[in-house]
Amino acid sequence: MKKITHICCIGAGYVGGPTMSVIASQCPNIKVTVVDINQQRIDSWNDDNLDNLPIFEPGLKEIVGKARNMNLFFSTEVDKAIDEAQIIFISVNTPTKTYGKGKGQAADLKFVELCARNIAKVAKDDKIVVEKSTLPVRTASAIKSILQHTGNKVNFEILSNPEFLAEGTAIEDLLNADRVLIGGDDTPSGQEAKDTLSSIYEHWLPKERILQTNVWSSELSKLVANAFLAQRVSSINTISALCEKTDANIQEISRAIGYDSRIGSKFLNASVGFGGSCFQKDILNLVYIARSYGLTEVADYWEQVIIANDYQKSRFAEHIISSLYNTISGKKIVLYGWAFKKDTNDTRESPAIAVADALLDENAEIIVYDPKVTADRIYADLDYLGTRSSEENRKLLTVCNDPMDATKEAHAIAILTEWDEFKNYDWKSIHEQMLKPAFVFDGRRLLDKEKMDSLGFNYYKIGQS
Ligand code: UDX
Ligand code: UDX
Repeated sequence: MKKITHICCIGAGYVGGPTMSVIASQCPNIKVTVVDINQQRIDSWNDDNLDNLPIFEPGLKEIVGKARNMNLFFSTEVDKAIDEAQIIFISVNTPTKTYGKGKGQAADLKFVELCARNIAKVAKDDKIVVEKSTLPVRTASAIKSILQHTGNKVNFEILSNPEFLAEGTAIEDLLNADRVLIGGDDTPSGQEAKDTLSSIYEHWLPKERILQTNVWSSELSKLVANAFLAQRVSSINTISALCEKTDANIQEISRAIGYDSRIGSKFLNASVGFGGSCFQKDILNLVYIARSYGLTEVADYWEQVIIANDYQKSRFAEHIISSLYNTISGKKIVLYGWAFKKDTNDTRESPAIAVADALLDENAEIIVYDPKVTADRIYADLDYLGTRSSEENRKLLTVCNDPMDATKEAHAIAILTEWDEFKNYDWKSIHEQMLKPAFVFDGRRLLDKEKMDSLGFNYYKIGQS
């Protein structure tokens, strides 16, 4: 088996950054270099002040603080890092295509392809190339073809090693992974490459948790895992709508069904909808793949998970509008939370974006407070929708750094992210300074209904009548 002394990762994002930081911290004898074409991002990773890292993840700054410039390096010198590494991870983003064939569904692989071409150009000796980005099935064979046809007669082994970390718990998920999946060819050199990558993870994980499969099973497993998780959220969310019409309580239902060990208790929290960079994109990919093979029923089945999620978001926004007497024009509505879940500053596909957009369509005056998301990010998310001009977005929506100030003379508050701090606010004082009747729409089921009712709020908790 190859002795590994140098690892390189292309893409210093939410996946590449934390994953490589953990590998470096667990493998002190391996030099790990994370490269990115974005100079500003690399500068933030190298910032002396660890609070300025580009990504917020609990536990990340401590690990980076210890390993950085020891055996963990962040750089824009992509070619140099490729050249010295025996294992190269590709961890660049694969957004949903916004043009051409597969627009709105298929993954845009142009960045992955650019990486492959770059590796082919630079490599002078044999390399193991690992796809870490979530990719449609059969991408590995495309990467392989590019590497084999433009390379310098070096042997490339392509492995699929999908990421299962969830943001907000990335470090814990990496250190204590349920499983690591490694897909590769069944040839002798493919097997050797799988064993080599496995040996990296064996520095801290028991071997039984490292599963080896063929490449396509590995690629498809990632999409399927996310599709199943998202399906649970959509399933419980559709039932939350039914609960609101009846006297059933969604929490009691989640508990009752979760006790069935065949169902299990996780991922049964009703919410304003799922977000994040993966769920929607991966399901769209699955749908696209199924359709491209003529499997219409399969595609329709999974697409419904997304349709239910869109329904949940618009249902929440419509409930706010109808509760505020069907007119919210000029009314001050505070959004607590913009991130797609707590403990991350990531906002990709956050349900907050869709809810804000629907409320802005009705000319509401929106104030956003999120403990970790910057104003620039919030405006960029809205501008990206293209629903209205960026001037209008800035006119109608303001970002506030003080959660108490934000609520002065507000008509309503909508809780869109489950940040712990929201639970501990002085809700009595908040009620006093809001206009009456004071509404709270809890899209994360975060607060205690009895308490909120007793303080005098008109309190709505998703999934409860
Ligand atoms: C990850 C996975 O890789 C992706 O497949 C998954 O679906 C979402 O999560 P993530 O790390 O979250 O992506 O993406 P992002 O934070 O956008 O980071 C990607 C980085 O790659 C960016 O910093 C970008 O500058 C960099 N990049 C992109 C390159 O260095 N080279 C390129 O050619 C393209
Ligand atoms: C997900 C997968 O969990 C992870 O394995 C994969 O590698 C990447 O995609 P992530 O998107 O970071 O991780 O977060 P996750 O914790 O899965 O939450 C996704 C969304 O579902 C969030 O918006 C969250 O708030 C929502 N959710 C989750 C619910 O609404 N209810 C739940 O019970 C669980």
